[in-house]
Amino acid sequence: MKYVVLNKDDIAKDIADRIVSLIKTKEKPVLGLATGSTPLPLYEELIKRYKEGEVSFKNVKTFNLDEYIGLDELNDQSYRYFMNHNLFSHIDIDLNNTYVPNGLIKDEDPLYYDKMIKEAGGIDIQVLGIGTDGHIAFNEPGASFDSLTHIEALKESTIKDNSRFFASIDDVPRYAITMGLKSIMNAREIVLIATGKAKAKVISELKKGIISNDLPASILNKHNNVTIYVDEEANSL
Ligand code: GLP
Repeated sequence: MKYVVLNKDDIAKDIADRIVSLIKTKEKPVLGLATGSTPLPLYEELIKRYKEGEVSFKNVKTFNLDEYIGLDELNDQSYRYFMNHNLFSHIDIDLNNTYVPNGLIKDEDPLYYDKMIKEAGGIDIQVLGIGTDGHIAFNEPGASFDSLTHIEALKESTIKDNSRFFASIDDVPRYAITMGLKSIMNAREIVLIATGKAKAKVISELKKGIISNDLPASILNKHNNVTIYVDEEANSL
């Protein structure tokens, strides 16, 4: 696992460089995307490069990590809404090539999502954030390292962290559909971004290199192409 310490803007530029170079060299590039406030500077940078004519997303497919159960795309707290508003509507991507797990899933097996990723050729670059409890996507502490896409009950700490985006904590969904840790590990390259003081503790835990279910992100130690991008604050402990 490689650690890179940069400021927020340079993290966004560095990862955008990787993504643009993938798009320019691969016929059918597949991106794995994340929500949360952390990847926003990256999405702004990608929009900028599209507007400057440096890159087109016409041939790109994207798979998002997760979605709240019960929220549809018109709900402004859904991750589909987040992606449409913060990235997809500003670039020339075909919305039919953008996938977010179905938060309104009923009888379908969540594994349908891994099958779709496989059919698309697998994820070339997976972007990740990290929760303060070490979750990636919505794989909470205790999650199985062998998991594929599934429905997960959110921990109180995650509900509390994410309540800042909702009118009240009671409005935060208690369940999410999320790519599993194995689904994430199947990506050919992984970049995890952690910025700000709130992530310092979890990053100091991750740096110990101990692989444990208590810290879901620690599974990344087993992947051969992972870069952890941290800013000074996240790297401060
Ligand atoms: C949510 C998402 C994660 C994200 C995390 C951190 O729980 N499911 O994918 O990494 O939030 O969010 P933020 O970047 O806002 O700190």
